Amino acid sequence: MKLSPEEQALLAGRDGPATQKAMEILVALGTIYGAGDMLPVSSVQIAGVSYDNLGEAGLHFLTRMADGGGRARVLTTLNPAGMDIQDWQGLGISPEFAGQQQRVIEAFTRMGVIATCTCTPYLAGNVPHYGEHIAWAESSAVCYSNAVIGARTNREGGPSALAAALTGCTPRYGMHLDEARRPTVTIDLAAEIMSAEGVPEAGNTALFGALGRAIGDRLQAYPGERVPYLRGIQRASLEELKSLCASVATYGGVALFHIPGITPEAALHNPPAERLALTCSDLEQAMIDMNDASGEEVDFVSLGCPHLSIREIARLAELLDGQRVVKEFWITTSRPVKQVADQAGYTRRIESSGARFAVDTCCVVAPIKGRFHTMASDSAKACYYAAAKNKFKTVFKPFDAVVAEALGRPQAR
Ligand code: F3S
Repeated sequence: MKLSPEEQALLAGRDGPATQKAMEILVALGTIYGAGDMLPVSSVQIAGVSYDNLGEAGLHFLTRMADGGGRARVLTTLNPAGMDIQDWQGLGISPEFAGQQQRVIEAFTRMGVIATCTCTPYLAGNVPHYGEHIAWAESSAVCYSNAVIGARTNREGGPSALAAALTGCTPRYGMHLDEARRPTVTIDLAAEIMSAEGVPEAGNTALFGALGRAIGDRLQAYPGERVPYLRGIQRASLEELKSLCASVATYGGVALFHIPGITPEAALHNPPAERLALTCSDLEQAMIDMNDASGEEVDFVSLGCPHLSIREIARLAELLDGQRVVKEFWITTSRPVKQVADQAGYTRRIESSGARFAVDTCCVVAPIKGRFHTMASDSAKACYYAAAKNKFKTVFKPFDAVVAEALGRPQAR
């Protein structure tokens, strides 16, 4: 790889061992992927923050990088941690886990990383603009930034994202290049999918989550990088798009899609000749696959995968006003969004129902395996990891119906 004099100096250790290590990681990555040189990045999002995923080896690596003088050179935020950083006791987290998680956060903080632990950094101040080169690691946020914003990022791993933060650069390959952003397959949605009875005007995160799963399942037959060009979606809210991004990234490994009239780069391309038709039965099958509880009682309800927007929290306050939940109900969001909810009075209305905010964390990265048996959610991604990681049964329903589960008034769908 061709390195600038500044990059060569970092690689030679001028700014200390952590920055040197970071540059070594990036050069190795660039060599593997055939990058000619490095690109400056303006924003980083680091995943792999929960101690539940990192373990001692991960904590040791981060501590070494902080001790070695690593300092973030660009705006850098974190993915969810394994607990609410301020109120971990309220979530039933053990003091042992909390201690180790705090050490992880401290290591990041010492490196100048902002400990806003969220998978929706674009709702919490880390917002790139169209065409900007960034290095993000959370798969749902990677897809959102590439597809919805038109910023450019590969799906970074935890170490490569940290390396980009400490050096301010990333190898020029993959999603940073025009050719990798061209659509590879046209997906035509049956007209009935988006006009299905019961799709609320205000949006349906579950519908878009199921759509992401159905697309992901069909794309399994396509090798290589998959960049779908989706036809048949006339409108989509921010919340629906974040749900679609999380789901299609989880089930189909998709880092970018285009929707004509909705996403910014769609107009630059023609629909690819390779075509695939998505039917109502594909969608129905996706929903069936995420409902495997077969009559078991829901004992855990979770909303906020990806982390909730302020508009979703406002809806929750409306639904829970004067009500009492009868299930353990976690509402996951970022701390900045929660602060807006506090200010708007939503928090008080929601917490009066007995539901609890789980800020900085989520139902997937918190250490809750074995604590619950059956989870209800509107998130296709949460259903995937609830089954794969925590061995929970899942009930997949629209947002309002999930709240009804928490209130002990289950609706059919
Ligand atoms: Fe975010 Fe956790 Fe879902 S990190 S996308 S809430 S699995």
